[in-house]
Amino acid sequence: MPARNHKRWKDVPGQLREGEYIDSRIYSDRDIFEEELTKIWKKSWVAVCHESEIPQPFDFRTTTIAREPIIVTRGPDGQVRAFLNVCPHRGNTIENRPSGSFRDGTASGAPRHMTCMFHGWQFDMKGNCAHISREKEGYQNRLSRSDVGLRRLRCEVHFGGFVWVTLNDGIGKTVEEWGAGCFDCLQEHVDAEPLEVFHYHKAIIHANYKLWHDTNSEFYHDYLHYHNRITGFNDAYFARQNTGFDNGHVTVGSFEVQYDKYEGFESRESLSFPGLPPNHWYMIDMFPGVNFNLRGSALRCDIMTPLAPDRVLIEFRGLGLKSDTPEERMSRIRHHNSIWGPFGRNLHEDLLAVTTQQAAMNEHAEPRRILHGRQENSTIHDEVGMRHFYDEWGRWMNRRPSDPEKPYAAAA
Ligand code: FES
Ligand SMILES: [Fe+2]
Repeated sequence: MPARNHKRWKDVPGQLREGEYIDSRIYSDRDIFEEELTKIWKKSWVAVCHESEIPQPFDFRTTTIAREPIIVTRGPDGQVRAFLNVCPHRGNTIENRPSGSFRDGTASGAPRHMTCMFHGWQFDMKGNCAHISREKEGYQNRLSRSDVGLRRLRCEVHFGGFVWVTLNDGIGKTVEEWGAGCFDCLQEHVDAEPLEVFHYHKAIIHANYKLWHDTNSEFYHDYLHYHNRITGFNDAYFARQNTGFDNGHVTVGSFEVQYDKYEGFESRESLSFPGLPPNHWYMIDMFPGVNFNLRGSALRCDIMTPLAPDRVLIEFRGLGLKSDTPEERMSRIRHHNSIWGPFGRNLHEDLLAVTTQQAAMNEHAEPRRILHGRQENSTIHDEVGMRHFYDEWGRWMNRRPSDPEKPYAAAA
């Protein structure tokens, strides 16, 4: 078969049908990106951190969801709460540090309060306004502290102690309901005892967030990963099941990884998460952009924050058991880093793939077909997981992934 001419290059190849290919413009178009923030990211539950990162009363972390600044705090009552990190006075960002504690005072902050450094207004850990500088002199009886609390956001600690926040007050679902059963495969292993984050790093990747999500959810690209080929490719690997759940989530079933086939690596058996069979490996991809990956002795969680059509901030966390001895913790860290650390086996291979994909799909590139058409009885190299994700995307956006200028229609 000769190379295709310009007209045929634009055609859908072979017999592929709606849902089995998508239009590359959904990875680069600025209007579509803005619409995604509004229609998807401002409407869904988003994991923002883990409870072990704010263990003490008055601890906090800041982040953003769809560009809105968010602060998560732990109150003196132990409860985790989330607020817009925006001052009701003149709209300043209240807290600029990525994390810390409000327990002790600072040069421009009162102890046990969130203090806006601009004019010194203070807020307690429930978001109530506790102090307005020279309140009576300026506002007399026209404004009181009870009028100007922080904007509280719905927040739940769920699924292994992760902190979930939504900007959508009317979401109508708990985090459990949002998960629609997708977390069942991990629940007993991550909820048996408290977990603790032992690894954190973040990076801005030059790729659309959906491309990163794709590499997390499809395993056909294990041809890219030398480690996975060596430790994986056997009958049990090829039989792993992809399962779709409501709200766009996908799981990948488990099998026993042969870690000792990779020179220098070792079995994870002695440090298996509670109830997990030795060296098993489960994966959950939750819509629109969080990935949980349990490989025997270490849980990995990647949380995406889209910044632009071709930029995504990813926060990478590794977790072990809070009860780990120092020796156990060191082994878990070694196991985690050998796969996902900056010098580990897999992470940089994924990074290379998504950034070179994006480079060919810049906003000035001509539209092209991205194929999601592998069908293998929903096993590991079937691209059903991506089809499920993009069908959900189309529904939320009311756009057809294969032709974003047309309204959504369920694939046949
Ligand atoms: S903007 Fe926050 S105190 Fe004025
Ligand atoms: Fe990968």
